[in-house]
Amino acid sequence: MSVIDLKLLQETKTLERCPFPIPAGWFFVDYSKNLAPGEVRNVFLLDQEWVLFRGEGEEGKAGLSDPFCPHLGAHLGHGGKVVGDNIRCTFHHWQFNPEGWCKDVPYAKIMPPVCKKQPILRTLPVIEKWGMIWCWYHPQAEAPQWELPSIPELESDDYIEPRTGHWEVNTAVQEVAENGVDFAHLKFLHGEPEIPPATTEFKGHEIFTDMKNGYIKGHQCGPGLAIFRFDHEGVVATMVSYSVPYTREQTKMNMSFTHFKYPEGTKEAMVAQHLVNHMVGEADGEESAGFESVDFIVWNNKKYRPNPLLCDGDGPILQYRKWFKQFYPGNEENPNL
Ligand code: FES
Ligand SMILES: [Fe+2]
Repeated sequence: MSVIDLKLLQETKTLERCPFPIPAGWFFVDYSKNLAPGEVRNVFLLDQEWVLFRGEGEEGKAGLSDPFCPHLGAHLGHGGKVVGDNIRCTFHHWQFNPEGWCKDVPYAKIMPPVCKKQPILRTLPVIEKWGMIWCWYHPQAEAPQWELPSIPELESDDYIEPRTGHWEVNTAVQEVAENGVDFAHLKFLHGEPEIPPATTEFKGHEIFTDMKNGYIKGHQCGPGLAIFRFDHEGVVATMVSYSVPYTREQTKMNMSFTHFKYPEGTKEAMVAQHLVNHMVGEADGEESAGFESVDFIVWNNKKYRPNPLLCDGDGPILQYRKWFKQFYPGNEENPNL
């Protein structure tokens, strides 16, 4: 990070709200139950339109493709139909599988040779996990560079059916997630009694944070997934956050909240319930406010300072930004990010 440029610090007119490209990573698309077998739907995410479809039958695979047919450019999401696991263009019935390979040109005696060699329709790698559809986005269409982690709370029947929430925020995903290492704001914006003592470890595509000596453990996994575990004397509640860029300046925030199925009526069940309420900012008589009530006013209106003036009590903001640059391939040296 460069030395503070005082002129830049004082000239806010040149600052942008969101100078960031769409980052590379795994991103939430929708809940699996919302995509029926054989369905074709146009969706907007990652700053463009995509066609989301699912193969026929119970085991139908989900696919997410660029809308425009490689043949003559018809929009696959307007009139396109699912045949088996493939999407079939309405114009001349070429078929493409979820990996983008052309599987059928019904009237060609010889398929264009390229069809045998490589996918010709841009599709994103898609996996379904935790009852959700996830896509891998990379601006240069490179293959996934890491795997989604295991989240036992979303994989086992020992945990309650998650409560989910969805919010739209007018800023980029990098700005939203910067909150996770901005420890000072927890006191001044959220009303925590003290700035929590915290440690942060940046490791490849992940960040591990520990706040208040184990009370909150955070695991950021790329730009599109973060898991926070709140531990109150051994009772743990979990918040899984999966934000997805909508446009470059708008983010859809999605969250699931869950905890172990403590027997009903026990103290543990009450504590866990309270922790979940606390996370969403709904707990009564709380000393601190959840993100829903206070963070939006900042996110929706701020500008991004690439060269901020920081002080010794701030969290590892610059390390975080350096870490985040790995998700902007080709922009690692861009001074505006
Ligand atoms: S434009 Fe899609 S099959 Fe011709
Ligand atoms: Fe916050």
